[in-house]
Amino acid sequence: MRVNTSVTKLAVLMLPIAAFAAAISAATAQTEPPSNVTQRQHGMKAMADAAKRINAMFKGSTPYDARTFKAASEIIRSQSGAALSALFDGPVTMAGSKASASIETDRQQFDKLAADLGIYASALSVAADRNPDTLGPGMRMQTGDVMGGGPLAKKVGATRDAASMPAEHAFHLMLQTCTSCHAKFRIETK
Ligand code: HEC
Repeated sequence: MRVNTSVTKLAVLMLPIAAFAAAISAATAQTEPPSNVTQRQHGMKAMADAAKRINAMFKGSTPYDARTFKAASEIIRSQSGAALSALFDGPVTMAGSKASASIETDRQQFDKLAADLGIYASALSVAADRNPDTLGPGMRMQTGDVMGGGPLAKKVGATRDAASMPAEHAFHLMLQTCTSCHAKFRIETK
């Protein structure tokens, strides 16, 4: 019968395709780390590139461009906070990942650092809007701005102060947030 022959022909045609697809998915399962690990690492790399672009403008090695500055800030902002935390939901330690198991036990601190990152990145994004033409003195850190810890250093509450501090200060505190999170929640070697 004509119908049967064509069904058989079709089946013969499909067989190698199915086998091929199965071979591909088997290969993928073996070599690629789980997708959210890849996503985390891509996101982190994108943030590192964005931070480098902003840094170059503060250093003066790249001319200031408000749109590039804002776009870079937005890359970091959009991958911080809840979006960042969500990528570390569920089992945190996986093949190919450098995420530390302490994320699961110190979830609150991890989420706080992720949120702080977003607050500083937003402050940078707003600074770009307010300074369309030049990276002027208003974006620069003032001599009185306290960097980092020390028992006498005025504690900076990210939520309260990020929007009113100079952009350069917010940038430094943002980088400290990257470093703090890595020190606590990323393992050095596998
Ligand atoms: C809330 C915690 C947290 C913050 C904030 C954070 N990171 Fe990460 N980062 C991690 C963790 C955890 C890993 C390991 C991820 C993995 O391997 O699964 C990582 C990995 C990385 C990597 C390596 C990616 C790779 O290819 O393996 C880079 C680069 C990086 N982060 C840059 C940054 C930069 C730049 C910032 C700030 C703008 C930042 N991170 C902020 C937790 C954080």
